[in-house]
Amino acid sequence: MATPFDYADGQLGVDGVSLADLASEFGTPLYVYHRPTIHAQLAAVREAFDDYPTRVCYSVKANSNLRLIKWLNAREVGFDVVSAGELTRAVIAGVPAERVVFAGVGKTEAELRQAVASKLWMITLESVEEAEAVTRLAEAMGGSAVPVALRINPDVDALTHPHITTGRGMDKFGLIPAEFEAALSWVLERPEVELVGLHMHLGSQITDMRPYEEGLQEVVRCAKQAQEAGAPLKWINAGGGFGISYGGESVPAVADFAAAIVPQMRPTGVELVLELGRFLVGPAGCLLTTVLYNKPRPARQLAIVDGGMTTLLRPALYGAEHRVLPVEEHHGALEPTDVAGPICESTDYLARRHPLPRLESGATLAILDTGAYGMSMASHYNSHPGPAEVWITEDGLVEPIRRRETIEDLLTIDMEAFEA
Ligand SMILES: Cc1ncc(COP(=O)(O)O)c(C=O)c1O
Repeated sequence: MATPFDYADGQLGVDGVSLADLASEFGTPLYVYHRPTIHAQLAAVREAFDDYPTRVCYSVKANSNLRLIKWLNAREVGFDVVSAGELTRAVIAGVPAERVVFAGVGKTEAELRQAVASKLWMITLESVEEAEAVTRLAEAMGGSAVPVALRINPDVDALTHPHITTGRGMDKFGLIPAEFEAALSWVLERPEVELVGLHMHLGSQITDMRPYEEGLQEVVRCAKQAQEAGAPLKWINAGGGFGISYGGESVPAVADFAAAIVPQMRPTGVELVLELGRFLVGPAGCLLTTVLYNKPRPARQLAIVDGGMTTLLRPALYGAEHRVLPVEEHHGALEPTDVAGPICESTDYLARRHPLPRLESGATLAILDTGAYGMSMASHYNSHPGPAEVWITEDGLVEPIRRRETIEDLLTIDMEAFEA
């Protein structure tokens, strides 16, 4: 889906809500999410996969807002968590344990203990050592066998940005094909765990179907081997990764992903799990930020804004490119514009040489498609408090879903030791 944010009567907004008004009311930097877009994205996935038994999960790392998790929980999605913190968020939001998958390449013993005690849907194991740790804990804690999945690293290039590629043999994630057999035998011999799933996650922002086809071929081969060895497999988790359009370019439709994934699943007889983050929430968000200064630079204008890499890390981290629009519509000439944040790092840019009108101090810009990996990657570097988040409901209501942080919030933990 294209961004829902568009111009009407000279103002950028959505469903009659003006982004300039939101910036005035809530201040900037401000994340704004359009809930009907999340709903539409979820419905599109469910429809595209509706002729194969499929459970759609939400990958909490994409946007961990509690209100969002609660809202998605009411739509009966499953949840992919990768830390005790994300698991705790799901629990607080009311997600039942049997709808939570716990993945993650470096779970600590304390996290595994919490996962085992919570009786989750399944824990995804990424190494034999981790399987040993879960077995030890399960033995010590008693109770029925812990449902687990094995994460396969099928050694497939996701053909996306190298920093968000996770299924090549050299990557740290999962079991490479040479490790799988030993892990399978190990797990099948232990009564404390029950192998109910296989998992792969090849990377994020994938726009080519070949990685899914090749990766699943390997996972399906492993599934056959596991079934022949007596594993009670119920699920194959094909991960997340569906790409979205960041620059207005055309990207595959969700039906294309279904066409690549479903035919491979049919011979296995097990259900499909998807754990999507970016696709569900990315297009629904925009980040509002205010121009503080406009400095001349050779062959470009340089706008210094109040939100930077601590608010939206993706451009600094991966060179990600987002569309940037002024909230007041402009019909005049555009200039190549660097949009830089206030942080003392030379990578602190939100956009480079982006076509924008001449920007005065006080102008508000909207950085589009920032619903995923925006707020959840925000940091406090340079002691900047985190931005606020609001969403727009199906009735066009604006609801704050996280207040702006204060400097007092930032200092709370430091002060404990400082005042001791
Ligand atoms: C294991 C796992 N599953 C799902 C996802 C979600 O990916 P995406 O947001 O691209 O759908 C990620 C993201 O990195 C992940 O690591």
